[in-house]
Parts: sequence; C-alpha cells; structure tokens
Amino acid sequence: MGAIKCIGILTSGGDAPGMNAAIRAVTRAAIYNGLLVKGIYRGYKGLVTDEITEFKSQNVSNIIQLGGTILKTARCKEFTTPEGRQAAYENMKKEGIDALIIIGGDGSLTGARIFAQEFDVPCIGLPGTIDNDLYGTDTTIGYDTALNTILEAVDKIRDTATSHERLFFVEVMGRDAGFLALNGAIASGAEAAIIPEISTEVDQLEELIKNGFRKSKNSSIVIVAESELTGGAMHYAERVKNEYPEYDVRVTILGHVQRGGSPTAHDRILASRLGAAAIDALMEGQRNVMIGIENDEVVYVPFTKAIKNEKPINKELLNIVRELSI
Ligand code: F6P
Repeated sequence: MGAIKCIGILTSGGDAPGMNAAIRAVTRAAIYNGLLVKGIYRGYKGLVTDEITEFKSQNVSNIIQLGGTILKTARCKEFTTPEGRQAAYENMKKEGIDALIIIGGDGSLTGARIFAQEFDVPCIGLPGTIDNDLYGTDTTIGYDTALNTILEAVDKIRDTATSHERLFFVEVMGRDAGFLALNGAIASGAEAAIIPEISTEVDQLEELIKNGFRKSKNSSIVIVAESELTGGAMHYAERVKNEYPEYDVRVTILGHVQRGGSPTAHDRILASRLGAAAIDALMEGQRNVMIGIENDEVVYVPFTKAIKNEKPINKELLNIVRELSI
C-alpha cells in the first residue's frame, strides 16, 4: 500500500450522539492535511453497494450539534461474508480510497480488523457507542450524552415515584455492560443499580431488600442494566410482585431515547479530538488501531486489544450508590 491520498469514512452499528462531531473532525482534519475524503453511507453496507460520495468541508458544516449520523448506519450481514468483503474491497479501489476510518462499537471494529487483515487496507477505528464497553478509552463517543439523558428521565420519574410512594425499576441500555446503569444511578441519586458484571456473584434483589433500601424513603428508584444476565427491569418487577407484594412497583424502559439528542460538550470534545487524532495516526503510519483517550492523553489501541479485552467496571462504585442512598 503506497502513500495515502484519499480516505473513506463510515459510521457503523448502533448510532451514538457525537458521531456527527467525529465525522466533521475526521473530514476537516483530513482536508487540512491535504487528503481527499469520501463519505460512505450506511456503514459497511455502503462499501459493499458503492454508496459513496466525496465530502468537502461544507458537507460537514452545521452538524457538530446533531445527534444520529448524517452518514446513516447499519448492521451489515453481507460484510460478515468473504464475498461481501471482496465486493467492498473492489468498490474501495474503484473509488480510489486508500484507507478507512470506522466510527462504531465492538462489532464495527471486529469487521475492520478482519477486512484490514484480508486486504491489507489501513483502517483506523473511533469508539462510537453509548455502551462505553470498548477497552482502551476512558469513555466512548455518545456515552456521556446517554448518561445525561438517563438522569434527565430519572429526575422526572422521581417526581411521580415520590408522589405515589412507588418502587420504580428503570431499565437502561448497555448491551452486556453496566456502565450506563452504574453511573446513571450515581448521577441520578438512585437507590440501587443492578448490573450484569455481578449478576453471577450475588442475588442483587436480595441484597437490596437485605440492605433495607427503602428504609426512611417514600420512593425508590433502581436502575437496571438491560442484559440477559440481569434479566432486565421486568424480571425484577415480577419478582418483587411475587416475593414482596407490599411494594407498589412500576417499570420504565428508557430504550432508544438514550441513543438520540444533541451531544454534550464532553462528547463533542471527545469526538473532535479523536477525529483529528485518527488523521494524525494515519499520517504517522499507524494501522489497524482504535484511537482512545486515557487520562486526557490520546492512545492507540490495536484492534485485537480493544475488542478482546473486557473493559473493567469499577464495582466499588456500587458501594457509593449504597452509601449515598441511606
Ligand atoms: O450498542 C448500542 C445499543 O444501543 C445497545 O445498548 C443496545 O443493546 C443495542 O444497541 C440495541 O440495538 P438496536 O438499535 O439494533 O435495537
């Protein structure tokens, strides 16, 4: 692979607030450094079906504040097959794209790793997911905005929970990671968080009851991470109905509202820094790494490491939730 003259950029997997800020940053940093930029629509699907357009600086004007992704996104089945990836490679060559910048989560970076290996294509990944479950970066693009959405919703639920003296189980996203649930619980002053990371260690409902989580309070809010491991909010509400019928229980599933909205300052800054760093990395000759930020420093994390390693969650924070909810 010779010198890089043209890059392709795509967003893949679940959208996340801040992806547009990242598209803007990558596009402008690339043009600033003399590169040509091509926007690839609908994630890897657009690479397979050749939905590709040249991006000038103006194409990314006025998008830093927008949620979603102007490039659209998809979870692409074809790209998981060798034939699909071959078609993607041929389109890439036809369009004169020398390197790819992929903004997405775990699945998107896995696709990039395989593609890079098969066709010797330089790929750089940016962590874009509300789940915050990528190893090698303190936070992922979209996570902070989703957290803020959660606490805004929980503040409102608290009003009605208090009026009716009810116990609410509020389910948040995260796939199999508890970052949104745990930090959402701290930020919203919830009485407890139920997270997949300890679901095999303890019966979290029994713990709550044992710790007298309701004590002097006239309402309680428990944030539950979605996951087969926790069983989700409905599972706990059913259990309480059967095992502790004295509680008046309700469930709120926040769902995709967590994926939308204008990105917070944190996510815009993160996306802008990561986007600019992606171009620096390519120019420095970096290949097949995810760009992260750890302790305020840009870091390059090999795809294999970012995908394989489970990002550790600080379980001690559960004690904070418990201590502060007495
Ligand atoms: O990975 C982001 C995420 O929002 C997860 O938290 C959630 O489990 C999943 O995507 C939902 O996916 P979909 O939008 O395809 O239903």
